[in-house]
Amino acid sequence: MAILVTGGAGYIGSHTVRELTDEDRGVVVYDNLSRGHSKAIGGDTRLVIGDISDYEKLKDTMLKYDIDSVIHFAADSQVSESMANPEKYYYNNVVGTLSLLKAMKDCDVRKIVFSSSAATYGEAQEVPITERCPQNPTSVYGRTKLMMEKILVDYDVAYGIKHIALRYFNAAGAHVSGDIGEDHTPETHLIPIIMEVALGKRDKIKIFGTNYPTPDGTCIRDYIHVTDLAKAHILALDWLINGGPSRAYNLGNGKGFSVREVIETVERVTGREIPSEEASRRLGDPAVLVASSKKIMDELGWMPRYNTIDDIVESAWNWHSKNPNGFDDR
Ligand code: UFG
Repeated sequence: MAILVTGGAGYIGSHTVRELTDEDRGVVVYDNLSRGHSKAIGGDTRLVIGDISDYEKLKDTMLKYDIDSVIHFAADSQVSESMANPEKYYYNNVVGTLSLLKAMKDCDVRKIVFSSSAATYGEAQEVPITERCPQNPTSVYGRTKLMMEKILVDYDVAYGIKHIALRYFNAAGAHVSGDIGEDHTPETHLIPIIMEVALGKRDKIKIFGTNYPTPDGTCIRDYIHVTDLAKAHILALDWLINGGPSRAYNLGNGKGFSVREVIETVERVTGREIPSEEASRRLGDPAVLVASSKKIMDELGWMPRYNTIDDIVESAWNWHSKNPNGFDDR
């Protein structure tokens, strides 16, 4: 028996694989390495290089390794790219997930933990956002994630495939060892870009939008440590293994920080000055995204360990300063 982790060589995927292997769970990573890094998973971890659109390869992998559950990270995940190239997102995310689910159904694999997103909510109707808030995504990326959630609900009713959809807010930070961390090409996320400024690899950070309806005019996000996210996947998997019904949960720290506050935090943690420049808004960005994670705390007993922005930024700095070129494999 083993757990198939699609996208397991990616940022959140590789941190989850680390937690699973630390617990000696049988893991098979399935990743096309388009964004992921083979160096992000331990040398002993089985890696199948494949695309989720490849139904036959998925089916062969599930049968060969006696897969009994899936954690599904594989997806394209950049909001702005999704606005410019919706076709890529609907194919890779939605059609890709249908292919994965077909392979699961045909191989009698009926448990899946799914990477959903705060992006499914769009502009918040209330803060903090609970799972009962309406889901009206403002980006193509968010719409693909919402579609996949709805497909999972239908596949539960019709085929008995049980799921947990985890709606992440802003994943950030790096493994405490500093061995693995965030490395995207191109990098679009706020904290790693500020780290590149701190390392002298960029001149300045552009602040996208300074006229949002927030106290300092910049967007507010709820940053959650990637290892806390990883641990939630294990709790979710165990819930399904123990026969629990399908669920959707938010995952955040419940505290929002503006872009300017994050820049100040990085200056404090690194002791380096971060030059910034005001720029126009980025298409598809909601003003405020802050989670209520009470439901997953109450039902699965999840509790974030890295619950201050300083802790999160310190772990990111540990990774970026030790590995200024990331995994150095591009
Ligand atoms: N930002 C800047 N300058 C930059 C990069 C980002 O000002 O150079 C701002 C963004 O406009 C946003 C905030 O910093 O307000 C955070 O941006 P990120 O790109 O780090 O994260 P997002 O909030 O856009 O995206 C994250 C996940 C997505 C998910 C989304 C939910 O990466 O997968 O949250 O909206 F969809």
